[in-house]
Amino acid sequence: MRILFIGDIIGRPGRSIVKSRLTEFKNKEHIDFTIANAENLASGFGVTRKTLDELFHSGVDFCTSGNHIWDRKEVLQFIDDEPRLIRPANYPRSVPGHGWTVTETEDYRIGIMNLSGRVFMEPLDNPFLIFDEIIDDVRSKTSIILLDFHAEATSEKIAFGYYVDGRVSAMVGTHTHVQTADECILPGGTAYITDVGMTGGHDSVIGVHKEPIISRFLSMTPSKFAPAEEDLRISYVIIDVDPSTGKAQSITRGQIKNGK
Ligand SMILES: [Fe+2]
Ligand SMILES: [Fe+2]
Repeated sequence: MRILFIGDIIGRPGRSIVKSRLTEFKNKEHIDFTIANAENLASGFGVTRKTLDELFHSGVDFCTSGNHIWDRKEVLQFIDDEPRLIRPANYPRSVPGHGWTVTETEDYRIGIMNLSGRVFMEPLDNPFLIFDEIIDDVRSKTSIILLDFHAEATSEKIAFGYYVDGRVSAMVGTHTHVQTADECILPGGTAYITDVGMTGGHDSVIGVHKEPIISRFLSMTPSKFAPAEEDLRISYVIIDVDPSTGKAQSITRGQIKNGK
């Protein structure tokens, strides 16, 4: 089966290129299931019911997230009841939402997991240990499993890839918004990439207008960020999984540019 994973979608510009280009791309690539990281969906910070529904209408089947998932408080009202959205599993147990799920298409059953790294990030529970707590449960239901590891440090992501190798079909990194060129199949059969990159305006500093960011570095005082609109791209990977074993057969990295 073919899974399309789309990196962090940034605000309205990110949503707009997904809306205009996704359906055609899915048909061309014979995609069976589409997952996107939605933590920056609403103006770059968090998700709202409206922006999430817009994404589902554009052809995304499922959303993972990360540290920004809590930026819009309204998410607390629907995250427990929305089966197509998960947040990192290593938040404290009392936090709303779920960190993994198993979902079904007409032909396949797919496990989707979300974990956050801890290096240069919030001191959440140890993702390595939380993964061990969850994985047997997921594997008892399906061998097709995609993990979004939302983390800052390349070293932590690579270590996590080797740790989960052979136990998930794919581990895709998110959060840095910069696509890495290290996609591979690890020795145990897990497809891996350190970061899928972001979906939105690439004439920017990781998706937002450059000037306020530079000004902040110069003045060390806060400035207002807004999603960039120029050089729109969808950053993605496509993973082919053998459904009988759950092993990845290939991983292809790319960017869909507006007008091309
Ligand atoms: Fe992000
Ligand atoms: Fe993030």
